Amino acid sequence: MNVLLTGGMGYIGSHVAVTLLQAGHRVILYDNLRNSEAGILARIAKITGQTPVFIQADIRATKTLTDTLQQHTVEAVLHFAGLKAVGESAQKPVEYYANNVEGTISLMQAMQEAEVRSLVFSSSATVYGEPRYLPLDEAHPLAATNPYGRSKLHIEEMLRDLSISDPLWRVISLRYFNPAGAHESGLLGEKPVAVPNNLMPYMARVATGELKELSVFGNDYPTPDGTGVRDYIHVMDLAEGHMAALFWLAEHPGWHTLNLGTGQGYSVLEMVAAFAKASGRAVPYRIAPRRKGDVAACYADPEKARRELGWQARRDLAEMCASAWKFQKQLQTG
Ligand code: NAD
Ligand code: WQD
Repeated sequence: MNVLLTGGMGYIGSHVAVTLLQAGHRVILYDNLRNSEAGILARIAKITGQTPVFIQADIRATKTLTDTLQQHTVEAVLHFAGLKAVGESAQKPVEYYANNVEGTISLMQAMQEAEVRSLVFSSSATVYGEPRYLPLDEAHPLAATNPYGRSKLHIEEMLRDLSISDPLWRVISLRYFNPAGAHESGLLGEKPVAVPNNLMPYMARVATGELKELSVFGNDYPTPDGTGVRDYIHVMDLAEGHMAALFWLAEHPGWHTLNLGTGQGYSVLEMVAAFAKASGRAVPYRIAPRRKGDVAACYADPEKARRELGWQARRDLAEMCASAWKFQKQLQTG
């Protein structure tokens, strides 16, 4: 199958590209490199022995996108391109809506023009807002607590309207829980930002000594050890979930939503212990006040994905930590 990946040079897209290439599919990466680097292409090639087509462009360049879809006879699109930092989205809401919502409108227009009507969208568990019950299933009410989350909700609504308007469309929104870990080669992983916001990349930098200590945001939540509980999912499990969703979609027209999580929650302190064990390094931490906007616990009901796709996460926390650590060390040594 010929598959176009918007944002395909990013953290999740690059891992999905490897999975698709290794399964014999043709992959076209479309990315403006806003949050990634051209060097990713060589790393994908090193792992797979194949260099995918790469188009450096913005998804808002509708004509370029349409031409790309037509020239490469694309059959389906995986839509990863987007800005994803929750805190930044509150400071720059217009930029987030322009990039994520306007970008998706442009993609829908290009796909309509090129008559490509299969789409897998990168959504997030953030669309459930504050959990009313756990585990979170796909029927849980939707809400957003920040502009990033609202951009995902707006996009889901637009894609749903599109799917209803024309029965030829098949669209699936994959709601990721907390992606973590890296490719086993250590060549691909989550690109480090100056000071990471997310737990796993932050811990990795504490373990190397680049950052002094981890601030554990709150130990007075109603959870077993008082720290926040999340559903961390290995990025390669996520990648396999995308491939399963892509083929399932071929048999299922219309609009669909699906959780990609493990169903298992881990606390911050459990994560610290697992990372220290995998890296063989100490991860010093101190208890800090709660972070604004955080919830006590968030984890998936992964049953629908298991039932519909026959997919479930199979890599454990130790593998997530070991691969993230391998990637981090590789970054240090070059
Ligand atoms: P990432 O930033 O590593 O990858 C996104 C890629 O999209 C980057 O390579 C960036 O350069 C590209 N991009 C951004 N705007 C673009 C535009 N206008 N035109 C072309 N390319 C553009 O992020 P990621 O972690 O790989 O996330 C991929 C998707 O998954 C995002 O939509 C994100 O919101 C969603 N998601 C991520 C997480 C997570 O924790 N990583 C969780 C839930 C959902
Ligand atoms: C995990 C846990 C923190 C950092 C975010 C987005 C979500 C999705 C995934 C895109 C929490 C604690 C963290 C630190 C800590 N992204 N923590 N010290 O907040 O669950 O989800 O990424 O869609 O939308 O909100 O992930 O990794 O930031 O936090 O104690 O320095 O670790 O409080 O309990 P989060 P996270």
